[in-house]
Amino acid sequence: MSEVKYYEPKVYLSEVEIKARVLELADEINELYGEEELTVICTLKGSIIFFTDLIRHLKMPVLCEFLGTSSYGNQTASTGEIKMTMDVTEPLIGRHVLIVEDIVDTGLTLKYLLEHLKVRNPLSIRTAALLFKPEALKAKDLEINYVGFEIPNKFVVGYGLDYAQKFRALPYIGVIE
Ligand code: IMP
Repeated sequence: MSEVKYYEPKVYLSEVEIKARVLELADEINELYGEEELTVICTLKGSIIFFTDLIRHLKMPVLCEFLGTSSYGNQTASTGEIKMTMDVTEPLIGRHVLIVEDIVDTGLTLKYLLEHLKVRNPLSIRTAALLFKPEALKAKDLEINYVGFEIPNKFVVGYGLDYAQKFRALPYIGVIE
């Protein structure tokens, strides 16, 4: 069998740093919503790990929903064209909604989602992103209510984030050189 070389991205945010920050975000969310029921939307696939870690620290009754978008092919730059590949299954009318994003880069995905979900008349709609690249932001008037870490305009992988579908299972966030 030929030898397979596995490329290991350089650690940018460690498991410990991420865990601590996710707890802080959960505390802020708990404080705001109290015991109000909350529909938490996981944006597939990149948010899966952030989402599952975050919801386990939420104290209110949580309804889990999943939504698919894609704006990237196998490149590291956005095409700017957002596609909804899967929708939530329950109505959002009259509900408190929190959209959970892995990373806000151009912000076009989150902007698109907010526009498409607001028209379903939720009681409130807020956004949480583990990572935010302010230098890459293109979307105007985008409000991110909870940000884990602001990072420079570098391509990162791990903790759910991929490069060409790889590296999602890394427990830390790493940089591709
Ligand atoms: P935006 O629409 O440009 O904000 O990009 C949103 C989506 O692009 C994210 O949900 C990610 O799936 C993907 N993305 C943006 N930057 C990165 C990155 O550095 N690594 C991996 N995926 C990224």
